[in-house]
Amino acid sequence: MVEPKTENRKPKIIFLGPPGSGKGTQGNRIAKEFNLDFISIGDILREEIKKESELGKKVRSYVESGALVPDELILELIRNRVDNVDNSEYEGFILDGFPRTVEQANGLKEITEIDKVIYLKCDTETIVKRLSARRICPKCARVYNLVTNLPQEDELCNDCGVKLEHRVDDCESVIRDRIKVYETHTLPLLDFYQSQLRVINADSDIEEVYCTAKNNCK
Ligand code: AP5
Repeated sequence: MVEPKTENRKPKIIFLGPPGSGKGTQGNRIAKEFNLDFISIGDILREEIKKESELGKKVRSYVESGALVPDELILELIRNRVDNVDNSEYEGFILDGFPRTVEQANGLKEITEIDKVIYLKCDTETIVKRLSARRICPKCARVYNLVTNLPQEDELCNDCGVKLEHRVDDCESVIRDRIKVYETHTLPLLDFYQSQLRVINADSDIEEVYCTAKNNCK
């Protein structure tokens, strides 16, 4: 059921944008700053795959090939997590990578009301370059980039000292497939969320995008 809008309602924000637009980089940082729960469906799915859980086995081939995981599995995952935020210490939440289809957006509408949708608009060739150079810490999931966001020591996590990894879906052919999937299934959400939409130029450097996105989350 959609909850009524009240003065004290916790802020509920979606970060929407193509793969590599910076949803994780910016969403994570802004969530920490405003004490928001950062809910990344991609991170949750990769964790399940790593654990080889039943869910992980079901979703592995979708995630590795850049296809969308079926809506019903994703909606089941999101429901508990979102429901729990109102009873948590968090001031609200940021959703990263959800919803990605109109069906998911309709499902979310049944669960809760969204205040803002931060759309990180980014050029396709920028995305391909960024994702080809992305590296991730397998221990703490901190995200680096070998061109724009280097670790202090060669391919080691600044926090954990662990060797950084390249995501299997970050090879050029899969990146281009993910962009096509985004254009077909996720772009229609710009119309769906027209009244809550804040458009950010995500081609600029990380600090500039951060400042604009943060101001739009207030
Ligand atoms: P997910 O993990 O969500 O992948 P994605 O949407 O493709 O997004 P990315 O994580 O690739 O990019 P990002 O925008 O977070 O960019 P980042 O900040 O890392 O999903 C993976 C898979 O899970 C999907 O393909 C699907 O199979 C499944 N899935 C997930 N959600 C689903 C759903 N709702 N329904 C169905 N299936 C679902 O930045 C990228 C790189 O660029 C980094 O190296 C970073 O350092 C660098 N960078 C960031 N910003 C800048 C900047 N401004 N300038 C320079 N470099 C920058």
